[in-house]
Amino acid sequence: MNTNTTRMRLLDRLQLTKPIVQAPMAGVTTPALAAAVSNEGGLGSLGIGAMNVETARKTLRETKALTGKPFNVNVFCHQPAQPDADVDRHWTDWLAPRFAQFGAKPPQTLKEIYVSFLDDPAMLAMLIEEHPAVVSFHFGLPPRAAIDALHAAGIVLFASATNLDEAAQAVAAGADVLVAQGIEAGGHRGVFDPDGRDPLLGTFALTRLLASGFDVPVVAAGGIMDGAGIAAALALGAQAAQLGTAFVACPETSIDEGYRRTLLSESARQTTFTTAISGRLARSIVNRFTTLGEAPDKPEVPAYPMAYDAGKALNAAAKAHGEPGYGAQWAGQAAPLARAMPAAELTRTLQRETEAAVAALRARLAQ
Ligand SMILES: Cc1cc2nc3c(=O)[nH]c(=O)nc-3n(C[C@H](O)[C@H](O)[C@H](O)COP(=O)(O)O)c2cc1C
Repeated sequence: MNTNTTRMRLLDRLQLTKPIVQAPMAGVTTPALAAAVSNEGGLGSLGIGAMNVETARKTLRETKALTGKPFNVNVFCHQPAQPDADVDRHWTDWLAPRFAQFGAKPPQTLKEIYVSFLDDPAMLAMLIEEHPAVVSFHFGLPPRAAIDALHAAGIVLFASATNLDEAAQAVAAGADVLVAQGIEAGGHRGVFDPDGRDPLLGTFALTRLLASGFDVPVVAAGGIMDGAGIAAALALGAQAAQLGTAFVACPETSIDEGYRRTLLSESARQTTFTTAISGRLARSIVNRFTTLGEAPDKPEVPAYPMAYDAGKALNAAAKAHGEPGYGAQWAGQAAPLARAMPAAELTRTLQRETEAAVAALRARLAQ
């Protein structure tokens, strides 16, 4: 299959007029955000990985009420947590002085605050009933039976991949589209096995590897903030670019003021990977929590998402005292390019910039 044919198929099948995917972002995306992007001809997305079935269904229905266009619904396919009471206790004991600063105590026991899609047949049934145009997987893949059932409902399946092996597994399992997530990306790194060897591929290398290695459309993700970045992704063979951080500061997101202010400040110049907030590697703006996670005496971090139970409690306690620095302030490496613009306007601006970048490139080559 040649790239042009494949690209036409992806854009046509999803009725996209712009090669722009607004990344699914659990805790950040809203029906208003996803619908605004889809209504502009991009692909809006909902992150429902941390929702229960009822909330997820309500969120899908609210989105359908705001747009008749296709949108993407994203679930987490991580291996379910293996609770370890000793690890959890050492962790909460170690965090206790931080909680005490804010007159609070850590949770007595850590809970698995949301269920993996691998363990959630009710979520699968809901997705089949509601049949959004696209369902996407992060952290791994569901079993073949779930993929077949989603396909039978007419749903296009996107799978996040951070290296060639994960991409090969995704294609073999039946994924229709690969989301090439480079290390520049904000938020959780989508690696299938958090204990495995990670080649830490950047978006540039990974997009090219997947676009030339597989016959399915590739969507590039990580560090793309404007039309120049989108044009570069398309030049590498991607059929669209997936932007997360670029959309975080849109007024339609559900983030708090502390995160918004931090993202739009000089602090956005420094991002880092941390496992301390949730239990899995994720890229955040450097803040009090990521710095705490670098302490030399840090004990083993509980499994994802058990650690997130403590992380969210610490953030709530800190926020109640006016301290925003313990939030999950996820952002990609190019975060300083973030703009606080309504999502529809941002989508149109990104398209205009992409066209201008392509025209400028042509002009340069013609010189
Ligand atoms: C705040 C935030 C939350 C995210 N949550 C999810 C998620 O729920 N599911 C997912 O597949 N990817 C998630 N991601 C990763 C994005 O899909 C994408 O890989 C990333 O945003 C691309 O890098 P960029 O932020 O530099 O654009 C998240 C990213 C951010 C910034």
